[in-house]
Amino acid sequence: MSGIKLSIRIWDAPVRLFHWLLAALIVALYVSRFLDLMWLHYRLGEVTLSLLIFRLSWGFFGSETARFATFLKPPRSALAHLASFRLGTKGESVGHNPAGGWMVLLLLALLFAQALSGLFARADRNSAGPLNHLLAKPSSDLVSAFHTWNFYVLLAAIIVHLLAILAYAVIRRENLLRPMISGKKRLPATTRAPRLASPLLALALYLLAAAAVAVIVTL
Ligand code: HEM
Ligand code: HEM
Repeated sequence: MSGIKLSIRIWDAPVRLFHWLLAALIVALYVSRFLDLMWLHYRLGEVTLSLLIFRLSWGFFGSETARFATFLKPPRSALAHLASFRLGTKGESVGHNPAGGWMVLLLLALLFAQALSGLFARADRNSAGPLNHLLAKPSSDLVSAFHTWNFYVLLAAIIVHLLAILAYAVIRRENLLRPMISGKKRLPATTRAPRLASPLLALALYLLAAAAVAVIVTL
């Protein structure tokens, strides 16, 4: 049934780097707040925001598999994908599958909401995010509460994310993890390799994103 397979690069280095830096940063952000190292939390949070802005731009100008237009399929296809979860041809999606695409959008939206609200939140009398001074007390309290509670929603989404990857491995025998590390996936030889964008373009977009954050935090 399974014909000849080739190892095809489906994830570019910028997406993989973005992903693993992001995962490490979320842990570090939690730990820095837990240890009350707020200066560190702010700097790490700003780096996270710059990575998110980069990923947003990469979703428009980046490699084929990174583009929103490629991986956001009509909700109907996402449901059909889930309905045929056990039966579906296994392991042959080039990039995010139709259900995974929506999960990615949800994760990115929650991460953006977390990072942006952090800029305006206040930790205590002496410590606050760089844009907290723009808010009156009631709005500051509201944004800080949002930052606290959105983290739990984000955590729930991350748990679903990890359970989904586990389910693909166990039920469908589809290893999504290996491609996110190596970039490559074994796919039928007839598969058209996705078009990958230049890493230099990624670097330029990241530098622009970092510059944007550097300006935003001085407002
Ligand atoms: C703080 C934790 C994490 C966050 C916020 C997170 C977020 C994300 C996001 C936003 C994507 C989409 C990547 C893109 O298109 O740019 C993604 C994909 C992915 N993540 Fe994570 N992730 C986390 C932890 C992990 C961990 C620990 C693993 C390993 C088990 C993992 C495995 C994957 C895989 C395999 C994909 C690709 C899924 C696919 O093939 O469609 N993630 N993750
Ligand atoms: C995605 C990125 C971020 C994550 C995952 C994150 C996570 C967290 C967590 C878990 C807390 C503890 C909440 C609590 O004590 O109940 C917290 C608090 C806080 N964070 Fe962040 N944070 C992020 C980005 C930022 C950024 C960019 C800033 C500002 C530059 C920031 C500023 C704050 C402040 C002021 C607090 C104390 C107020 C509060 O407890 O809600 N955070 N953050």
